[in-house]
Amino acid sequence: MSPEEFIRRHTRLQHPPLVPEVSLYLADDIMRLWELLGDESDGDNPGIPFWGSAWVGGQALARYIIEHPDEVAGKSVFDLATGSGLCAIAASRTGAASVTAADIDTLATCAAQLNAAANAAAIDVHRRDMLALPPPEVDVILAGDVCYEEEMSRQILPWLREARRLGVHVLIGDPGRHYFPREIMSPLGAYDVPTTWEVEGVEIKRTGVYTLGGTDDQDGRH
Ligand SMILES: C[S@@+](CC[C@H](N)C(=O)[O-])C[C@H]1O[C@@H](n2cnc3c(N)ncnc32)[C@H](O)[C@@H]1O
Repeated sequence: MSPEEFIRRHTRLQHPPLVPEVSLYLADDIMRLWELLGDESDGDNPGIPFWGSAWVGGQALARYIIEHPDEVAGKSVFDLATGSGLCAIAASRTGAASVTAADIDTLATCAAQLNAAANAAAIDVHRRDMLALPPPEVDVILAGDVCYEEEMSRQILPWLREARRLGVHVLIGDPGRHYFPREIMSPLGAYDVPTTWEVEGVEIKRTGVYTLGGTDDQDGRH
């Protein structure tokens, strides 16, 4: 089955609760989606299909962008680790001059393209390990819910810090994941994001939106 067939067969267009303006191909049950992906994978162990859920960090960041269009309007925007493409779609619909997005997962890039089309959003989506490359030359980088794993967080923070050093405005959505270094972030807003017990172990998750703050010296301690 092609990635597009898999996504269309096992998900349905839904509105993320905090961003009802957007429609995304989402799973009703992310664990069931993961099982189905395993059945398709010929014994390989597929990663979690992150693209099948609108993560609370991404929802909060998308809501923030829609409520603060000046953050992206007329600017070049890059959505790191785009998953479903939610943050990229929010930026496109809020007047960004150009939006590119990347994810390491082939199915995620397919889902983000399908979701962009479903929302008439112009987004250039790439399958790419962004952390192996220098930060792109854009005005704004979005990072929704990227601190869920130790190794990824360890790589991502210096990468985002380098982007900031190059003059990029970095916006991050995070619910306080274990590896999120809140002490080096400047808070911009917070939202109560409806979610599910299956995904987050709570029904509402308070989720912040941040930009990188502090000095490079402070950042260097992480
Ligand atoms: C928790 S999901 C967040 C997705 C989306 N931003 C959201 O908030 O709904 C994290 C995403 O990071 C992607 N990812 C992990 N490592 C990556 C890398 N090195 N480069 C690009 N994407 C990566 C995963 O495939 C996954 O889709």
